[in-house]
Amino acid sequence: MLKLKNKIKTLLFELAPRLAVNWGVEFPRKSENRLFLEHDIFKYLDTVLNHESAQCLFIGTDKRSWHYRSRFCAKFFTIDKDPSKAIYGDVHNHRIGSATELTQQYMRDQFDVIIANGVIGFGVNHIDQCEDLFAGLETIMKSSGVLVLGYSDSPSRIDFKLEHVKSYHLFEKFAPHSNGLEQSEYVFDDHVFVFLRRAGIG
Ligand SMILES: C[S@@+](CC[C@H](N)C(=O)[O-])C[C@H]1O[C@@H](n2cnc3c(N)ncnc32)[C@H](O)[C@@H]1O
Repeated sequence: MLKLKNKIKTLLFELAPRLAVNWGVEFPRKSENRLFLEHDIFKYLDTVLNHESAQCLFIGTDKRSWHYRSRFCAKFFTIDKDPSKAIYGDVHNHRIGSATELTQQYMRDQFDVIIANGVIGFGVNHIDQCEDLFAGLETIMKSSGVLVLGYSDSPSRIDFKLEHVKSYHLFEKFAPHSNGLEQSEYVFDDHVFVFLRRAGIG
């Protein structure tokens, strides 16, 4: 019965995604790394976004993540370069634009939390694009902010190491030591989550 329900939900996203969103249907198939993001990482981020003026940016919008916009108490912003993905973005605070040009969209020191999951290797695929991505992230994130990066390190997705991106070093890895997250990096097959903060503030 559950399998049939999930098949219908998946089909609905293929045939009528807007309807799926309007009806509040969550995309049913969740990988292990998706469950980790939604449960473990989001619970920790709740503790970072625990003040009235907190703002969170989620980069890349998709059927798997459209419901995140009502998951957090903080003011939620989304951006995706593909106009067809706007239906999965925040109702009021979605921008159609590139993650490689973030300073054109957002203010310096705006965000307490930025989540960039499935963007590197899924559109931001070249080292020069990554340089622009991290330089922009560093500008728009508060000095006390948290960047959650989820990316694929498979050679079929990116042909460079993040460590070779100069602007990546504007950030440093850290372990949250909160909500059971004792590591700075979690690896699920070829999907990696890294917790980053501005370099030199630790
Ligand atoms: C694999 S999906 C991940 C979506 C979402 N972040 C999530 O975790 O469910 C990748 C998304 O990133 C978007 N994307 C790729 N390159 C981008 C860029 N340069 N700027 C903004 N969005 C981009 C794609 O259009 C696509 O919607």
